[in-house]
Amino acid sequence: MAKQFTDLLLEWDQDLNDRLMPWKGEKDPYKIWLSEIILQQTRVEQGWAYYEKFITQFPTIFDLAKAKEDKVFKLWEGLGYYNRCRNLLFTAKLIVQKYNGVFPSTYEDLLALKGVGPYTASAIASFAFNLPHAVVDGNVYRVLARYYGIDTPIDTKEGVLKFNQVAIDNLSQKFPGKYNQALMDFGATVCKPALPICNECVLQKKCVAFSLNKVNQLPVKIKSIQKKKRNFDFYCFEFEGNWLIQKRTAKDIWQDLHQFYLVEQDAFRPLDQASILSLLNHQLAIPSAAIHLAKIRVFSPYKQQLTHQTIQARFIVVPLKKIPSVLAKSNWVNLKQLQKLAFPKLLNEFLQSDFQKI
Ligand code: ADE
Repeated sequence: MAKQFTDLLLEWDQDLNDRLMPWKGEKDPYKIWLSEIILQQTRVEQGWAYYEKFITQFPTIFDLAKAKEDKVFKLWEGLGYYNRCRNLLFTAKLIVQKYNGVFPSTYEDLLALKGVGPYTASAIASFAFNLPHAVVDGNVYRVLARYYGIDTPIDTKEGVLKFNQVAIDNLSQKFPGKYNQALMDFGATVCKPALPICNECVLQKKCVAFSLNKVNQLPVKIKSIQKKKRNFDFYCFEFEGNWLIQKRTAKDIWQDLHQFYLVEQDAFRPLDQASILSLLNHQLAIPSAAIHLAKIRVFSPYKQQLTHQTIQARFIVVPLKKIPSVLAKSNWVNLKQLQKLAFPKLLNEFLQSDFQKI
């Protein structure tokens, strides 16, 4: 049987994951807990130095538990969300008093600690005690949504239940800690929110989003669907008079209508040649050599006002010298076939104006 998600991810971790962080591989639950509390609302780059300062000042939970509150707050200064700091000190004292300084080692006892929610409890349980609890955060939602092609919005009850189940189903029972850290690292370095590096991705062959050219459309958030202003970039791939066309299938605007390859973004990024080539290369694995570079054209925004949303769309025409293998299975249509398909108003406007000039 072909290798599945979990094995492929662990293999990637073993062979290709070069992300270094001071808490990685740590087995001391105190240090893991400290790192996870810092990382709850803080980016890795910012949290790194704080983690090292805390470990130097308070190498054990006993050092932290007996520290003066002012000193702990001074060290935390700049990190924000000071409740985390208050809970940190409270929990250190509790563990010293109630558990003689020995960190609790079950998921339930960890979850009972102030400042520790399901995510942090799963992280500590799996990293320190190798217990089979899956961490589920934005990274995990994104990777799973893309790999399995799940379009249930992640910010709905149904989505949370669904993704939790998929996360549990995929968890490595043998190496839960390694697996959880690998998934976080993979989401942060390869399967990134914008410009994922599908080109080098070991999961690419079996990734549903990649094979359906829907990497940018997953994961779905109900909040972005309901957002007032949306920014669409449509990449119009052309090869010898044939155009790559997608059908919109998700429960979103324009369901069952057609479009060119869509990249939706929170804000438009500049569309210079380097940015366009970077996206095509990293994400779609289309090499520059396959593109008629001089014939790339960018058309400035079209607008469509819907009842609750304003759509702004740019069109990027990308003539290809050959169809890259990743797009070979896509739906390519000639002009005659294209005219028979149903498009949203905004795309029809483009098709009847700028598209005619190409
Ligand atoms: N965010 C939360 N926990 C993390 C970890 N262990 N590594 C990287 N990012 C994280």
